[in-house]
Amino acid sequence: MNVKEALIKTLAENNGEYISGAALAEQLGVSRNAVWKAVKALEAEGYAIESVTSKGYRMSADNNRISAGFISSKLETESLGRNIILFDEIDSTNNEAKKIAAAGEAHGTVVIADRQTMGKGRMGRSFVSPAGTGVYMSVIIRPDISVESAGLITSAAAVAAAEAVEKVCGQKIMIKWVNDLYLNDKKICGILTEASMGLEMKALDYAVIGIGINVRSVRGMFDEELSSRASSIEDETGVRPDRNVLCAEILNRLEFWLSSIERRDFLHEYRRREYLTGKLITANVGNSSVVGSAVGIDNNANLMIELPGGEIKHLNSGEANLCRVKK
Ligand code: BTN
Repeated sequence: MNVKEALIKTLAENNGEYISGAALAEQLGVSRNAVWKAVKALEAEGYAIESVTSKGYRMSADNNRISAGFISSKLETESLGRNIILFDEIDSTNNEAKKIAAAGEAHGTVVIADRQTMGKGRMGRSFVSPAGTGVYMSVIIRPDISVESAGLITSAAAVAAAEAVEKVCGQKIMIKWVNDLYLNDKKICGILTEASMGLEMKALDYAVIGIGINVRSVRGMFDEELSSRASSIEDETGVRPDRNVLCAEILNRLEFWLSSIERRDFLHEYRRREYLTGKLITANVGNSSVVGSAVGIDNNANLMIELPGGEIKHLNSGEANLCRVKK
């Protein structure tokens, strides 16, 4: 680790408290002048570091630069995030993660970008990913689980992301089946999982879990249609979370839930946040769309809909939305 990386890690570990130049120099095993030079270099790269003559240095609460060292300093995981590949800009972190996973990249490797030029959503949609505002992260996993359990990965990731967002902003997050996170009735996060099966289609080779969260204000960045249904943590709560802390917390919770995925323990946390349950919805079933009441989430994370005749349908993919009352 070079002096800059070690400095980021030490400042991040100090949780916003000041640490003197002398203490930093001793901890990093370099001169005070080398510390000062590293601080200046980091500031030039966009890190927000505060310095006060009598107190020393601290990472500003408003720091908005993503860094692998900062994220690692907050990780409690064994394997997720232990290798972080960071880009200022990339087409799609999912594409990059799939490429390197196909070439053998290890379980737990994470690809993160400050901006995506072709962020992908589900069903061929795009995911608008402007610089400096979001978490755009793809996690490569090679879990030893059955093909049936592989279908639960996205739902477990939704719980992990919801818990992480709740921790950084202090407000309850809803999960709209199957994988969107909602805050104040607006979408703030989407998840796109892309899996590769083994040759005999009996086991999962790897999966890439792509998580996109609108963190800082997106005002003026979305078109009118998107602004009417999507927002960001900052725009909805006024809280400006550090994206590094959020990335680390997602990885901490994701590793926790994936480790027990076959026991389906995460479903309890999913169900208590599910947004559609108890409401009148429209859903796509095959090529047709149906209207019914969302009555819950079954043990395979499928959405259960009660049709007008009383029949219960279990949806395992597709999309469901609230029925809007026409004014
Ligand atoms: C959706 O809302 O339909 C899913 C959006 C998923 C977006 C994330 S951002 C990181 C990763 N890279 C992508 O291109 N997509 C996912």
